[in-house]
Amino acid sequence: GAAVEVDISALQPGEMKTVEWRGKPVWVLRRTKQQLEELSTLNSELADPNSERVGFPTPEYAKNEWRSIKPEFSVLVGICTHLGCSPTSKFTPGPQPSLPDDWKGGFFCPCHGSTFDLAGRVFKNKPAPDNLEVPPHMYLSDTKLLIG
Ligand code: FES
Repeated sequence: GAAVEVDISALQPGEMKTVEWRGKPVWVLRRTKQQLEELSTLNSELADPNSERVGFPTPEYAKNEWRSIKPEFSVLVGICTHLGCSPTSKFTPGPQPSLPDDWKGGFFCPCHGSTFDLAGRVFKNKPAPDNLEVPPHMYLSDTKLLIG
């Protein structure tokens, strides 16, 4: 399928945009410093903090603490690895499903309650077996991302 070019110049910290790639939603998040700091505190709560499972292999360049090329920017396929629903997030405009009280943010799948952090890593004891997929991508410049 065709690669998709994404202009990220207007994306502010704490914002996310959704683009379509191969008929799938792809989320591009610009994480704040605080969100990045929180990520490194979550490992013990996650099923696969280092993305070692092979269901949706994480590209080598995203096999790091942030699951991304640049710490600030996360690029994720917005489809739950359980049965394919589309999770919602606090970045999603419109009404939100009720979220767990102690949840630090990220994504919530309304179908069976899987939760993911802001790197798309799935929390323990949830129906989703894998972290969200990181699609193949690269930066063409500081403001342009190529997905696919
Ligand atoms: Fe997301 Fe089941 S499809 S938890």
